[in-house]
Amino acid sequence: MKGAVFIAFNQMIEEQVGVAVWEQLLDEVNPESGGVYTSVEDFPDEELFALVGKLSEIANQPIETLVESFGFYLFDFLNQKYPIFSESESDFFSFLKSIDSVIHKEVRKLYNNANLPELDCEQKSENILIMRYQSPRKLCLLAEGLVRGAAKHYQVEYSLDHKTCLHKGDSCCTFNVQI
Ligand code: HEM
Repeated sequence: MKGAVFIAFNQMIEEQVGVAVWEQLLDEVNPESGGVYTSVEDFPDEELFALVGKLSEIANQPIETLVESFGFYLFDFLNQKYPIFSESESDFFSFLKSIDSVIHKEVRKLYNNANLPELDCEQKSENILIMRYQSPRKLCLLAEGLVRGAAKHYQVEYSLDHKTCLHKGDSCCTFNVQI
């Protein structure tokens, strides 16, 4: 996973629970990187999972809740870093459709080793969009949080139903998004 994702995670913890918790996490997980992340360098996924696992113990919150909250936070972080993508799409559904075909495509061009999910969008009607998520990292809750972050950015009233799930043995995750 790119260092940028770790930097966002570090920033979220410092903002929401304080630098002392971040330091406690580093002390207890003792990651190989020493907790020093640079944006474009890759760090092991296991390191992020270990940090989230330890935070779950310290904060006494389920890992699933933390991953989704992190996705929600990560949207604003990425959107501030690369505002061009949301500026180019005038509405929520157009933005969601552009993740795979524009945003992650650009990320892949920049870094040929980027580890990105497959995100297929199918707009069923004016107000219903089906998003399918597939990735060996099974970070569907991160994706869900990111989608919720995007909905907040576009100020839409919406519902999101996580229908099928890789964690339940389905072949992909399906989000039914209704506005
Ligand atoms: C609703 C919007 C978005 C969704 C649902 C989404 C989904 C995801 C997910 C789930 C991952 C984790 C990797 C995996 O699951 O296999 C990921 C990674 C990533 N995404 Fe997105 N993303 C969104 C917006 C963006 C934006 C705006 C950017 C800005 C350029 C971006 C850039 C990246 C980067 C750099 C990574 C890490 C790649 C790596 O570690 O190699 N994404 N994205």
